[in-house]
Amino acid sequence: MVRSKVLLAGQCWFATTWQAAQDVLRDQERFGRDPRRAGKRQLPGMKWWMPKYLSRLANNMLAVDGAEHRRLRSLVDQAFLRQEVEALREPITDIVDRLLSDIESKGRRTENGGVDLLPGFCRQLPLTVICEVLGLPAEDRPKFERWFKGFAEVRSGWGLVRMIPSLMKLLRYLDQQFKQVRRQPRAGLMTTLVQMEADGDQLNHDELVSIVFLLLVAGHETTVHLLSTSIYSLLTHPEQLAQLQQDWTLAPSAVEETLRFNSPVQMSKPRFVLKSGEFHGVQLQRGDYILAMLGAANADPAKFDRPEQFDIRRAPNPHLAFGSGIHVCLGLKLAKAETEIALQHLFTRYPALRLAVPPVDVPWASRVGMRCIKQLSVQLLR
Ligand code: HEM
Repeated sequence: MVRSKVLLAGQCWFATTWQAAQDVLRDQERFGRDPRRAGKRQLPGMKWWMPKYLSRLANNMLAVDGAEHRRLRSLVDQAFLRQEVEALREPITDIVDRLLSDIESKGRRTENGGVDLLPGFCRQLPLTVICEVLGLPAEDRPKFERWFKGFAEVRSGWGLVRMIPSLMKLLRYLDQQFKQVRRQPRAGLMTTLVQMEADGDQLNHDELVSIVFLLLVAGHETTVHLLSTSIYSLLTHPEQLAQLQQDWTLAPSAVEETLRFNSPVQMSKPRFVLKSGEFHGVQLQRGDYILAMLGAANADPAKFDRPEQFDIRRAPNPHLAFGSGIHVCLGLKLAKAETEIALQHLFTRYPALRLAVPPVDVPWASRVGMRCIKQLSVQLLR
């Protein structure tokens, strides 16, 4: 356990071992997301920058615990179940194939003669998939890209203020889309959610918008970085890549290992300490903030044998890349399916794919809480 200062939250505890991180995420009696349960109102720093129109976004399933969380999550879970992830495999495969054809013909070239996989493939795939899952029109995707670009660049309090216009545009857009869906139902999760509301389940308009916003943001940026770091890890471990290319039944465990090894989401959202007391050797006070450091937990030698080694056959692999407990990632099946299909099709179509620059020259972004590559320049060799 370590204590330090973080942006907006101030002094914060960091749970850096696997066991401590798991306990923070799972112990509902001692830790919670809702500040009111710890005698607090809001994260200091949140109030001054958030206009009223946006504050409804704060009321989402990731921000609450207990019965309120169960209510919000179970409705989305049901909606997700109605659109089985397995049934999405075929459309995802079609999207992957189309994107690969596009980057080959018109992908962004880099100065070293390679093609940058980031914009045309790693970013486009999750965005296209989540828009299809939700039922958002394909022609609106360029707008999302512009809005999301702002979110991805937040590094400071001032960065948060600067992203307000993009957030407002996105929210207005979602308001409009819900109005249209109510008038004219279409395929996708937004219609399913609206119909569930009509069937008597309790979701008001603000909650619907807030859920779709969460799915768009959580389901997009994270998967971009899982994809790019997975490709990078395989290209920099050619013996592991060769094993995978010989036997694609290893794809699920390879994806689990890239999740552990790279941990795209490096830490959980802050929890509030609900009861003072001793925890993994330190004294916590009610109201303290605590973060589960997922990347550190996934490299804990007390839990993982030779954690510094990238091993696509690692089993068991109880990584915490998707969190744990009640807030465990709702989109984990979708993210894994997208990555498995993307890797298989990319490396089958270009069996001799390689980095266009030495691995040390691949630029990584400095982002709080996210592990991400800025540019992934490759040669598309067959
Ligand atoms: C590689 C991709 C992804 C990673 C690494 C990831 C990671 C995470 C983590 C660590 C959490 C828990 C945060 C916490 O407890 O503080 C979480 C929650 C969540 N994720 Fe993901 N996620 C990914 C993809 C997705 C996708 C594709 C979707 C939706 C389609 C999604 C939707 C959500 C939602 C709704 C929650 C909140 C669940 C709750 O509060 O009950 N995620 N994710």
